[in-house]
Amino acid sequence: MRRLPHVRLLLALTPVLVLLSLGWASAAPSMPGSTAPISAKIVIAHRSASGYLPEHTLPAVAMAYALGADYIEQDVVLTRDGVPIVVHDIYLEATTDVRQVFPNRGRLDGKYYPCDFTLAEVKSLRACERIDLKTNAPAFSGRFPLGASKFEVPTLAEEIELIQGLNVSTGRNVGIYPEIKGSGFHHQQGFDIEQIVLDVLAKYGYISPESKVFIQSFEPACLKRLRAMGCTLPLIQLISGSAEFNALVTPAGLDDIATYANGIGPVTTRIEDSKGRPVDNYSLVSGAHQRGLAVHPYTFRKDSMPSCFSSFEEMLRHFYFDIGVDGLFTDFTDIAVRVLKEAGR
Ligand code: G3P
Ligand code: CA
Repeated sequence: MRRLPHVRLLLALTPVLVLLSLGWASAAPSMPGSTAPISAKIVIAHRSASGYLPEHTLPAVAMAYALGADYIEQDVVLTRDGVPIVVHDIYLEATTDVRQVFPNRGRLDGKYYPCDFTLAEVKSLRACERIDLKTNAPAFSGRFPLGASKFEVPTLAEEIELIQGLNVSTGRNVGIYPEIKGSGFHHQQGFDIEQIVLDVLAKYGYISPESKVFIQSFEPACLKRLRAMGCTLPLIQLISGSAEFNALVTPAGLDDIATYANGIGPVTTRIEDSKGRPVDNYSLVSGAHQRGLAVHPYTFRKDSMPSCFSSFEEMLRHFYFDIGVDGLFTDFTDIAVRVLKEAGR
């Protein structure tokens, strides 16, 4: 098994870290939303079971559910008639046949924005495996064949109804993990996307800090707007590798996040670089935990992972147990579920 020197040091410090982790929940700052500590490690199905079926389609949601996800992610954008739909991008051409069906509806930048199409028009499209727009080839070779079978773009409501229906029929309680995409963009287009998403969530009973939901965004203004609107649902501040997020990973940045969010969702390379070397001695994880923030890094893919790990399972175990993240986003829910089960977690 791979054990780097920094990991051995981390393991030696485990008793200290355990004490710290016991302390961080009780030391969680007071904030207008949920302060409930996140105790169990979780598996978040990234764009549903996207490793096996076209991302964010209802069959992929059902599969993620059946594979044992604790939460299933929805990336949310709006149609022209203001309906929240589940699509990763603020354009449609990477995951649908919009260019073939509506060849003249792109903007001058060549993009086909969902907010330029009615829900009826979006429903006339076929959703497909993600396309690399530079090559027009599948973004991930070896995944579900491009163009095979038939899928459509779901609304947020349709996806919630599927998950809640399965919660009834199985007796489980799987959560949802919506990401508000392009908050600033949607406001520029005249849409209050936060209010629209909150209305759908409230309709389906997601109204309190205990609701089985996390709302995520890369935009602090979006999450702060949610709090200002009185939203008490758990919120997650996403942190990409882009330099514009550097201020968020400083002590002052984490202090600010802890005033409005319940956790962070950093890209994995904010924690370890692509060669498996810790970034700033894992200070992002420890700093978040010291402030009562859960840590849910993204994205774990067995077909796109750092070469320093001998297997995908080893990478997952390393992040869950050596580093101590509280959950993670993965395209391969079944493997993360198995890793947690084998560890008795
Ligand atoms: O939301 C966590 C992760 O999904 C962020 O990355 O680009 O897949 O939305 P992305
Ligand atoms: Ca996302």
